[in-house]
Amino acid sequence: DWTIGNFIEMELEKIRKEVGDKKVLCALSGGVDSSVVAALIHKAIGDQLTCIFVDHGLLRKNEGDEVMKVFAEDFHMNIIRVNAQERFLSKLAGVADPEKKRKIIGNEFIYVFDDEASKLKDIDYLAQGTLYTDIIESGTETAQTIKSHHNVGGLPEDMQFKLIEPLDTLFKDEVRALGTELGLPDHIVWRQPFPGPGLAIRVLGEVTEEKLEIVRESDWILRDEIAKAGLERDIWQYFTVLPNIKSVGVMGDGRTYDHTIGIRAVTSIDGMTSDWARIPFEVLEQVSRRIVNDVQNVNRVVYDITSKPPATIEWE
Ligand code: XMP
Repeated sequence: DWTIGNFIEMELEKIRKEVGDKKVLCALSGGVDSSVVAALIHKAIGDQLTCIFVDHGLLRKNEGDEVMKVFAEDFHMNIIRVNAQERFLSKLAGVADPEKKRKIIGNEFIYVFDDEASKLKDIDYLAQGTLYTDIIESGTETAQTIKSHHNVGGLPEDMQFKLIEPLDTLFKDEVRALGTELGLPDHIVWRQPFPGPGLAIRVLGEVTEEKLEIVRESDWILRDEIAKAGLERDIWQYFTVLPNIKSVGVMGDGRTYDHTIGIRAVTSIDGMTSDWARIPFEVLEQVSRRIVNDVQNVNRVVYDITSKPPATIEWE
């Protein structure tokens, strides 16, 4: 009988047998898959595992600290946080094209990871959170293009690691169950999908720290209100975008000319198609009120009511 408990027992044995006394490296993003892989391998071999967490400065509010709290403090893993914010921002300066932004971030991720990995001695294995669906999807050409476009941080080809992919027979729901069984908190196990290029593709056009700040703060307010309303698991993805347009507003006696924030919230089965989420008006109202009150340089909030297709979930 297949149970999560049996799966864990078998995998622990398999990993220990394969790795022996060698060392394993894991690129931890804070996403579900890499987190579950790290937790599983750590349970099998403890300190023989080292994780590298590249903080590219494009994460959501507090996310980097939360990753460190879970894996360094609670799980006592060897984890290296690379604070590469400035490296990424300077590479992105002046770049407005979405696909160029993705490329730059993907490449920079590899350089940063590579730099850090090359400082470590005697690593034989690289652990990856490849799922069963990743493998079957990469069979078709379209899926491959989608993957290469979506997968920030594919790893350098000249790295001489043997791969360990203990999740490669599992589906997402099984990975979540496994994560919970391994003691990972709900905010990781049930984390909504978050793109590798992060907030950089939610600031439309050129990325600056000021604009990232607007998206980060407004996104945090949205997430907070969705959580308060108990809607977290009903909505596939919810976030804010900065469309990079300014409009006229009024405050006190004066006119303002400031940014607009777009709210995107969708229901979906797999991200391939989606519908806009019917968030109750009272929740939207509260989100809007807090964003214009608390986020600097925003005087207008709009709600995206397009399905996919024709719109995509992200705005870039
Ligand atoms: P779209 O915007 O294409 O998004 O409807 C579908 C799903 O993919 C995510 N997405 C990305 N994920 N790198 C990623 O890792 C990317 O460049 C990227 N672009 C979109 C998006 O968040 C949604 O879940």
